[in-house]
Amino acid sequence: VTIDVADLFPGAADGVYLNTASMALGSRQGVDAINRAVDQWSRGRFDWSKAEVVAEEVRSLVASLLRVDANDIAQVSGVSAGAATVAAQLPSTTASGANVVVPARDYASNFLPWMLLEDRGYELRAVEDVSGELSTDAFAKVIDSHTALVATSLVQSFSGFRVDLDGLKQLTRDSGAWLVLDVSQALGAIDIDVNGVDALFGCGHKWTLGMRGIAHLYVRPSLRDSFSPIVPGWNATADPMPFYGPSLSLSESASKLDASRPWFNPLVDVEGLRIITDVGIRDIEVHNMALVDELESRGVSIPFPRANRSSIVSFDVPDSDATIKGFERDNIIASARAGKVRISMHLYNTVEDVDRLVAAIA
Ligand SMILES: Cc1ncc(COP(=O)(O)O)c(C=O)c1O
Repeated sequence: VTIDVADLFPGAADGVYLNTASMALGSRQGVDAINRAVDQWSRGRFDWSKAEVVAEEVRSLVASLLRVDANDIAQVSGVSAGAATVAAQLPSTTASGANVVVPARDYASNFLPWMLLEDRGYELRAVEDVSGELSTDAFAKVIDSHTALVATSLVQSFSGFRVDLDGLKQLTRDSGAWLVLDVSQALGAIDIDVNGVDALFGCGHKWTLGMRGIAHLYVRPSLRDSFSPIVPGWNATADPMPFYGPSLSLSESASKLDASRPWFNPLVDVEGLRIITDVGIRDIEVHNMALVDELESRGVSIPFPRANRSSIVSFDVPDSDATIKGFERDNIIASARAGKVRISMHLYNTVEDVDRLVAAIA
């Protein structure tokens, strides 16, 4: 991609940032927006109604990234809230064999809400990965006609493994289960085709270049009508500013599932999403995957087939915590996850970053 990294992400010059899988690097526009907001707030001049309008722009930009209507996107507080909203729709059951399917090492926020369904009569079938790999066959072995839903991260946070989305769509179509995706490690980095997906959610502080605070929830429109909100407040009503009852009604769009929204976050999130949209999701994916190829060509072994790779790469080192500390001394920011070093590369990363990483590993 041809972006002016120094202009859009001045902080990128302060070392090698390989940690978007934890949180995005702040954009110049995002940092300016939040600084302005803090200043206005400190003087009692912060206009929250404008922040509400910006939050609607965030909704539209996320919708366009997913090629759906803005009315199909809800804004919730985190992935945990997105998953809990979907989980809440499953009624208690006494049906024998009722189950939900989740990767055993999926991220906690996309695991615990499904685990709680055990209290409502569902068996949680955890799909074990093999060295990070989650094959479609491994899902197929546990899915049956009693599977209510399959909930998986599209890209696994600890390993960077990208599940075979088409394969999962086929499996869930055949079995009648809902396909639910956590796209936290994909939205903003990967072009996602929501056709065949029943619900998805992703947080806003990673690949879409926002701040932590708003997550995005999509529910297939024909399914959404039957969904009940779990945290409805004034943002979930039909009228934009209905603070008081008694004549309140829920929104008919996905915003009925909205949580009460933070006001500073959208000011940052919108700037990040504009950058993603301006550069283009396909070009970003090509750029990020070219950096992964570059890393591989310099001897870092990447275990997964090309179709299952993402902008996250995990690799073995003798002591991952010590390696991360050593990286910090070299001004390289990465994470240790599940005993491995996890690096993640986004549109602000360059071949020079790969060079510096490879030199630090050697
Ligand atoms: C796959 C995945 N899901 C969700 C999250 C964040 O969840 P929450 O929004 O509940 O904090 C992360 C953050 O690391 C993640 O990697």
